[in-house]
Amino acid sequence: MAQVSLKNVSKSFTGDANAVNKVNLGIENKEFMVLVGPSGCGKSTTLRMIAGLEEISEGQIYIGDKLVNDVPAKDRDIAMVFQNYALYPHMTVFENMSFGLRLRRYSKPEILQRVNSAADILGIKHLLGRRPRELSGGERQRVAVGRAIVRKPLVFLFDEPLSNLDAKLRVQMRTEIHKLHIRLQATIIYVTHDQVEAMTMGDRIAVMKDGVLQQVADPITIYDKPKNKFVAGFIGSPPMNFMNGRIIKKDSRLYFDEGKLMVKLVEDMLDRITPYVGKEIILGIRSEDIYDKLFVSEAPPENIVRVNCEVYEPMGSEVYLYLNTGKHTFVARVGAHDRPKVNQDMDLVFDMSKVHFFDKDTEETII
Ligand SMILES: Nc1ncnc2c1ncn2[C@@H]1O[C@H](COP(=O)(O)OP(=O)(O)OP(=O)(O)O)[C@@H](O)[C@H]1O
Ligand SMILES: [Mg+2]
Repeated sequence: MAQVSLKNVSKSFTGDANAVNKVNLGIENKEFMVLVGPSGCGKSTTLRMIAGLEEISEGQIYIGDKLVNDVPAKDRDIAMVFQNYALYPHMTVFENMSFGLRLRRYSKPEILQRVNSAADILGIKHLLGRRPRELSGGERQRVAVGRAIVRKPLVFLFDEPLSNLDAKLRVQMRTEIHKLHIRLQATIIYVTHDQVEAMTMGDRIAVMKDGVLQQVADPITIYDKPKNKFVAGFIGSPPMNFMNGRIIKKDSRLYFDEGKLMVKLVEDMLDRITPYVGKEIILGIRSEDIYDKLFVSEAPPENIVRVNCEVYEPMGSEVYLYLNTGKHTFVARVGAHDRPKVNQDMDLVFDMSKVHFFDKDTEETII
């Protein structure tokens, strides 16, 4: 069993603000957990503490049932794949992959068997005699993964392993690591700042900001029910649109009034939003929940907003509209055929059953 648990784990480098702040996180056996967040939020530091490469300032880390705070890295039975691969330049691929096993004095037939089997899985058998400089970025990445696989560790730690690859190769390697996870049935903790990688690869995603864990959940929950404005804005592309405004009551109905546009709230939000009547609030709406009125057969008139279309970007399968209410700019994702006139007003429909509201002061999700 290789579950990993972090209990109130903190790290401070300088004594002031914690790089990692009281993180509680349980990673289940065989789970693919993605740690995601902006640069400097403490992802690598968290991973390095799990690996034993960084001392823990406070809290406990368990691998399996064992408290590992004082266990040296080499005895933790984990393998880490770094962003820069960290291959030995003077060694061949075979030597790089077998290095850890040789250090641990595995028998020659055992080493041969493990390296060949890993090379087979990764499709790099033909590269075993080459040195790292004779490999492409993607091939080096595979060797780095291979070196981790041959160890048959309890837990794999990946720190942004795909960030040096070009966009196409990154997508390809993403699927391969995914397949590898299924094949190896291993526990994986994978760090990235790329929210698409997080969404597509993780069984669960842990979102971090400023050393603090914001939300841990499966990708769809993170997307549909973000815990706060930060998570809502970080996950999703293009990012969720936010508008500041006020809740007003008219004829016993509630509306969100942005100043330039106004939309009516749906029934089942009333309970939660009523305490905000007369108060400022933040509305969030994803670009795919906004439609061009021309293509909606029966739009409720209260959900129609008139805005200026400043730019449109054809993406092939769809079009991004960059819009301006006069107070806020926002993005809508519409069908590929939809090419409104630039710099003219157009009518859009907000799917009000899909909007989110955030408290203006705490930025926590209200609904
Ligand atoms: N050895 C160190 N000494 C002092 N501060 C450090 C050290 N390592 C990291 N930090 C600080 O700790 C914070 C978290 O760093 P960390 O490397 O964990 O971020 P990250 O989330 O991995 O970012 P990135 O996406 O840029 O890799 C940062 O503010 C960083 O400056
Ligand atoms: Mg990092």
